[in-house]
Amino acid sequence: MVMPVSRDDLFSQFKPGFCQPDCIEQDCSTFTCPAAMEIPTIQGDFIADSIDNNLFWLRIMMEHALFMRLGFACVNVDLIAEAQQYERSYAKLLNQAQMIAKNPTEQNVRTLNQASIDLTKKFTCFKTQVLNRILTCGPAKIGGYNFPLLIDHIRREAIAFIGRLIALQTCRREPLALTIVRDLTFWHRIMADHAKFILHLLDPSERQFVEQANLFSTLFDQKQLEALDLKSMLEPNFPVYPVIKRFTKDSLRVAIQIRDFKAAATELIAACELLSVIPTLLGDHVRREADRFIQTAERRLAEMSRLTQFA
Ligand SMILES: [Fe+2]
Ligand SMILES: [Fe+2]
Repeated sequence: MVMPVSRDDLFSQFKPGFCQPDCIEQDCSTFTCPAAMEIPTIQGDFIADSIDNNLFWLRIMMEHALFMRLGFACVNVDLIAEAQQYERSYAKLLNQAQMIAKNPTEQNVRTLNQASIDLTKKFTCFKTQVLNRILTCGPAKIGGYNFPLLIDHIRREAIAFIGRLIALQTCRREPLALTIVRDLTFWHRIMADHAKFILHLLDPSERQFVEQANLFSTLFDQKQLEALDLKSMLEPNFPVYPVIKRFTKDSLRVAIQIRDFKAAATELIAACELLSVIPTLLGDHVRREADRFIQTAERRLAEMSRLTQFA
């Protein structure tokens, strides 16, 4: 549900300011300018949105633990065991989420959200520790087949999951336009990374697929920069201008293209008709994330279409 609110009400929920994408939060300027128009904010459904996020992201987190485990060198038995422990913990929590989804109450959903936040914070620290050991030089350094960008990527996904759950737990309200540009920036970067992972895990002899993955990599790098430009232009108040609608539509169109590419590649991998070192589950994982991007873009377009200025 999208609700227009007064500026005072909005400012009690959201701290507007100027924050360039490459700034750390402490560097953001919090001075504001008067809003030129009414700022629509977004308000979801606590139970439905919580269940939806948990069912999607808990499975994703469980699979991250599996991919990390498969990528460790066999000598790193402690890291393999720790990753396996996260797989079990996420499988258990996902099972609980599926049970709660059948008969959700505000209290058990709140408890589930908190359990997911707690587990995912620990898992984010594990990912950080692994990334540090990949990047370092010296006795602590680990080898294996986990690309540094892959660990950074799955850590960003974990942080995004925690952020969404905290927003739900604290009933945070923020401008619709901010939610949209942040979602688009996040997903464009994720899609660009996926294209790069596919590109590097395909057999070099699969020249046509390699070229296609490279085109997607360039396309989504560009889309991410466009989303960052748009975010910068909308600061500090985040009004909804018509260009956001067009940009979201464009994003949806390219998200469908990469989803179809991933789906086709996954089918070929499963049938052993494509040469690569991509596990079928990884192909399916990145395909599901593209589907999530599509659903998000569709939802935001529906929310924008309910605004009087677009009616
Ligand atoms: Fe993922
Ligand atoms: Fe991903």
